[in-house]
Amino acid sequence: MKSRSEVRFFSSLEELSYQAAARFAELARLRVAEGKICGVALSGGSTPKRLYELLASSAFSDRIPWEHVHLFQVDERCVPPDHHESNYRMIRESLLSRAPIPESNFHRMVAEQPNPEEAARRYAEELAQVLKPEAGEWPRVDLVFLGMGPDGHTASLFPGSPALAEQVLWVRVNYLERPKTNRLTLTLPVLNAAGEIIFLVSGAGKAETLREVLEVTSTPQKFPAQRIRLSNGDLTWYVDEAAARLLGNRE
Ligand code: 6PG
Repeated sequence: MKSRSEVRFFSSLEELSYQAAARFAELARLRVAEGKICGVALSGGSTPKRLYELLASSAFSDRIPWEHVHLFQVDERCVPPDHHESNYRMIRESLLSRAPIPESNFHRMVAEQPNPEEAARRYAEELAQVLKPEAGEWPRVDLVFLGMGPDGHTASLFPGSPALAEQVLWVRVNYLERPKTNRLTLTLPVLNAAGEIIFLVSGAGKAETLREVLEVTSTPQKFPAQRIRLSNGDLTWYVDEAAARLLGNRE
């Protein structure tokens, strides 16, 4: 498969989320028709919440073969699963508690455990058990939904994060000075091995960073989001008008 990169413009977060849900449903059905599972990795934060709600809604849920879909986390904060900062909590409230997803098909990062390195190791094992990569290969997630912060971070890979240089581990602990917490995150090699990545970017607050990431080629390593380069898959930016307002070349 040739790698492609594309930007799709939407009038609102609602339309962006609806089209992202439609792609999820389409890909899940395609994979199941091939007799395979569909592995999807979900980000936290606020942007994807509406997508997750739509996936669980009557508009999509009945069209998705949930028993063959395995959901993973892109990253997690090292807090209890019911903590207001927990990505799992947001995913549970917006999706898992509303759709007929078999419990064993959601693979939670157990990031609250006292030893985050052990949690990272165990999560890598779970990825291996479900995705069954060939020996020496990176696990291949069919579809990854990523967000992007105003500082250009994605997953829990922040500007200057040591985890950005990780080329061996699949899942890494990443310590953040502010607010002095640990996070677990999929690493760049795993993200870049995905079959497809969709960035969900919404809101005026992301406009300047999005312009730099997509249009300023002189600083290709400034933002972690620029390090997402699929080795063999499709990268699509789903952006709404507010986030796209500073973009120049819109064909
Ligand atoms: C997290 C996310 C993170 C998120 C960005 C954008 O754990 O916070 O995985 O990478 O995607 O911070 O967050 P918003 O969608 O809230 O702008």
